[in-house]
Amino acid sequence: MAVAPREHFSSRAGFVLAAVGSAVGLGNMWRFSYLTAENGGAAFVVLYLAITLLVGLPVLLAELVVGRGAQESPIRALAHFGGPAWKPLGLVFVAAGFLILSYYGVIAGWTVRYAGIAIFSGFDGESAARFGEIATGWDAVGFQALFMVVTIWIVAGGVKGGIERAAMLLMPALFVIVCGLAVYAATLEGAAEGYRYYFETDFSKLADPAVIKDAAGQAFFSLSLGMGAMLTFASYLGRDNHLPNESLVIAGADVGIAFVAGLVVFPMIFALGLSDAVGASTVGALFITLPQAFAEMGAVGRVVGLLFFAALIVGALTSAISLLEVVTATVVDGLGWTRPKAAWLVGGVITVLGLPSAWSTDFLGLVDSIANNLFLLGGGFALAIFVGWVMKDPIAEVRAGTHGVRWFFAWRALLRFVVPAVLAFVLWFAVPATWEAVTTTLESWTAPAEAAPTEDAPQLEG
Ligand code: TRP
Repeated sequence: MAVAPREHFSSRAGFVLAAVGSAVGLGNMWRFSYLTAENGGAAFVVLYLAITLLVGLPVLLAELVVGRGAQESPIRALAHFGGPAWKPLGLVFVAAGFLILSYYGVIAGWTVRYAGIAIFSGFDGESAARFGEIATGWDAVGFQALFMVVTIWIVAGGVKGGIERAAMLLMPALFVIVCGLAVYAATLEGAAEGYRYYFETDFSKLADPAVIKDAAGQAFFSLSLGMGAMLTFASYLGRDNHLPNESLVIAGADVGIAFVAGLVVFPMIFALGLSDAVGASTVGALFITLPQAFAEMGAVGRVVGLLFFAALIVGALTSAISLLEVVTATVVDGLGWTRPKAAWLVGGVITVLGLPSAWSTDFLGLVDSIANNLFLLGGGFALAIFVGWVMKDPIAEVRAGTHGVRWFFAWRALLRFVVPAVLAFVLWFAVPATWEAVTTTLESWTAPAEAAPTEDAPQLEG
């Protein structure tokens, strides 16, 4: 039981940058690009923006309201407002934290490895073969563990001294690098092809449930919603923060960086004539095609590649911090452990849980799809019901820190009707799709004649 008063962020900027740091990560640069490529360019972007606005933003505000109101980690916060019957939902949140961070650390490890390649050897033209070597096995484990140690070390440092300080240092660097890369990409000959691809809309995709499902999954993943990460950060806030404004800034920065990342990725790929490779594999857009592009740019490519992967590392790190914080805060609040003990133990367990993902990209893809399609979307649905229908007076909680804003009833109406309806529709398709992904992967493992699955480019599914 926490005896000392709860630690708080020291400034508004500290909280906002930490929350933006959580939101902006591999999701913005890796997942967003390959999903956009897979799902028909701008049509996907339009859906993603619409869902972020109508579903993501209300759920984000709901998480902030519950966290700040309760001043506790997810399990206790839900019980605080809804009674002990809601504790299991908090447990599901914490389980999602374990699941997501277990494979997120593996992918982050790849980005560290690529940054190392940029520094020490430069990119060679054999990027598919390279990726095959990097993605799995002991190499993958080593870099995953390295990344996790840094993450744990920062979380062990506390809210102000660890999380806030890291975000204040790292996030501005990320913004500068990503924007700089977008400007550079614009100077490449042939960039226009990339923009055309990015902005071209195949309107038939707007009504495709599979595309809607991916857009919803991406909106939740990218905003770090549906598992109490934003809730936990908000539990370190005082009552003077204007939560609706904070959620607008967080969502705006998240969408903005994803959009700019697209302005980096697509022109580079098209300028170097590598667009075919993007369609060939889902992960390809980032971890195979871009290193190929960097290799073909020669000496400049080494610098550009290093900056690109540095930005990815920063994004991944500040996101992983928020994932680990959910679990760490739960253990600190619930079991009364010290923060360093909780962070190192829990972080160690999560690293071990990531080993199968470091061994098989198929397994990694499976966990990604289970976490997103079931845990995050399901968690968002439950949270909308909780704040929309169960919590006594959520509007009073929002009101603290604002000055007489009047449109909050619209927020609650969205949470009550629109969010559950959209998410129910999405889950209706997402659940069977996930089930199918699980069974086909299991079948491919039990059918021995198949080529070793880990050698293929992984099929990640949102
Ligand atoms: N939003 C991060 C990204 O885009 C990932 C992330 C961090 C996350 N915390 C989360 C996703 C909580 C879901 C839930 O890379």
